[in-house]
Amino acid sequence: MEQFALIIFGVTSNLAKLKLIPALYDLEEKGLLSDQSIIVGIARSPLSKEEFQKYILEVLSTENRHHQHDTKPAIVKSLVNRMKYLQGNFEPQNNSDALYRNLKQFLLKQGTSCNNHLYYLATYPELYEKIFSSLQKNGLNKKNQGWVRLMIEKPIGHDLKSARLLNRLLKRYFSEEQIYRLDHYLGKDTIQNILVFSFGNGLLQPLMNREYVDHIQITSSEDFGIGKRGGYYNSVGCLKDVGQNHLLQMLVVATMDPPAEFSNRAVTDGRIKILKQLEPDPKNIIFGQYNGYRYEDNIKADSQTDTFFALKTQINSERWRGVPIYMRAGKKLAMSVTEISIVFKIPANRMFPHHSLANRPNTLTYRIQPNEGIALEILTKRPGHKLQIDNDLMQFCYSTKKNTQADAYEKLIYDAISGDPTFFNDSPEVEASWAFIDQYLKRNNKLHIYDPGSWGPEAADKLIKADKREWIEPSLALCNFSV
Ligand code: BG6
Repeated sequence: MEQFALIIFGVTSNLAKLKLIPALYDLEEKGLLSDQSIIVGIARSPLSKEEFQKYILEVLSTENRHHQHDTKPAIVKSLVNRMKYLQGNFEPQNNSDALYRNLKQFLLKQGTSCNNHLYYLATYPELYEKIFSSLQKNGLNKKNQGWVRLMIEKPIGHDLKSARLLNRLLKRYFSEEQIYRLDHYLGKDTIQNILVFSFGNGLLQPLMNREYVDHIQITSSEDFGIGKRGGYYNSVGCLKDVGQNHLLQMLVVATMDPPAEFSNRAVTDGRIKILKQLEPDPKNIIFGQYNGYRYEDNIKADSQTDTFFALKTQINSERWRGVPIYMRAGKKLAMSVTEISIVFKIPANRMFPHHSLANRPNTLTYRIQPNEGIALEILTKRPGHKLQIDNDLMQFCYSTKKNTQADAYEKLIYDAISGDPTFFNDSPEVEASWAFIDQYLKRNNKLHIYDPGSWGPEAADKLIKADKREWIEPSLALCNFSV
C-alpha cells in the first residue's frame, strides 16, 4: 500500500467517533496502513497533543459500544502515533486561512512520504464549499505528484436539484475520479456477497426474471428511534435518510444484470442502469411516524416527518417488467432486521398440490443483518416412513465462517486509499436515485401514526394486500443456531 495522509475534517464529530476512528483501528490491526502514512484530524477545539491522544483512547475504549471488539494496547499506540491534530474552524463565516496554511506546511514537512492526500469530510454539507475553496486556494485540491482524493457521504443533496448543485460544486474543485461518494451499505460484506452469489454461481441468473420471480421485498427495520439525531433526522425523514440510498443500493445490487467484467465501470454502470429503469409508482407510497416521535429532542409538536415508509415500484425492463417490488423501512419497529427477499412463483404443475405447504413459494433471502447470511426456503421430505413435507431453509451463514466480516467503513476507507471506486457512487448514480425518489416526494401524502414495536401503519399492509401479497415477517430461524 502507498504512503498517504488521511485528513479528517471533523475528527471530533459523531461520525468520526462511531465509525471512522474504530475503522482506522481495524485497518491498523490488520496491518493495512503503510508505515509512513499519517492521519491528520481537524476540529474546532483547541486540543493539546496529549488531549487529542486521550480523546482517541476514549473513542477506542471498550465503552464505545460501536467498536465491537477489544482493542490491543500496542495497536492503539501505533494508531495514536500516526495521528496528528490540527485545530481550526472551517465554518464559512470564519477566517480559516491559517488552518489551511498550517495544513499545507504540515503536509509539505512530511516530504515525499506524504505525496498522496485523502480528505474525509465528516462535516455538514453547508461547510463543503468553504473547505473546497480553501483547499484550492492553497493548492491542496490537486497535485502533480501523487494523488488527491475526497470522501464524502450522505446527504448528497435532499432532492435531484440539490444533488445536481452539489455535484456541480464538487466538480468545480475536483475531477470525478477524485470524488468518493460513500454509501456505507455498499461497503457491507453481506451486500457485496450478493454479487458473488448471483454472478459467481450459474444457478441463479436463469431464474432471475419475470418468468420465475413473483415479487421482491426489501425490509429495513430498526427497533430504536432517532436518539439524539432529531435535528438532522427531522429535516430528512425515513425515505431520504435510508430509502434514497441504502434501500435503493440493496435493490440494484440484487437485481442488476451480470456486468461484463468485475470492474468499477461495469459494476457501477450495472447499478445505474437499474436505477434508471425503476418506474416510480407515487400513488403507492405510505409514510408513517411513530407515536411519540413529536416528543423526541429537537422535534416540533406538529412535525410531519416520516419515520417509516413503504412503497411499491417495478423495474421497467424486458427482464423484470411486471415483477412488483415492495420496500419498507422505519424506526421503532418490531425488530431490527435488514433483508432482501426474492419470492419465486409457484409453478402450476408443482407436485404434492394437496399438501398444506404446497402454497409456500421458494424464497431466496439475503439477510444483510443480523444473523447475516443467504437462505433459500424450500420444501423437503420429513424423515420417516410417510411422505410428509417440511418447510426448511438451505442456508449459508457468516457465523460459520472463520473470518469475521470487515466493517463497511473499514473496507471503504481502504478502497479509497487503494483507488478503487467500485463500491462508491458517482454523480450519475446519485442523480438517478434522486430522480426516482423525487417522484414519491411530489405528492402531499397523508402521514400515518403507528405504534412503537409494531410493523408500521396498517396502511402499509393494505398497500401490499391490495396485490394479494403479504409482507414477509423476517425469519428468526435464519442463521440463528440457538433456536
Ligand atoms: C444511516 C441512517 O445512514 O444508516 C440511520 O442515517 C440508520 O438512520 C443507519 O440507522 C443504518 O445503518 P446500519 O449500518 O446500522 O444498518
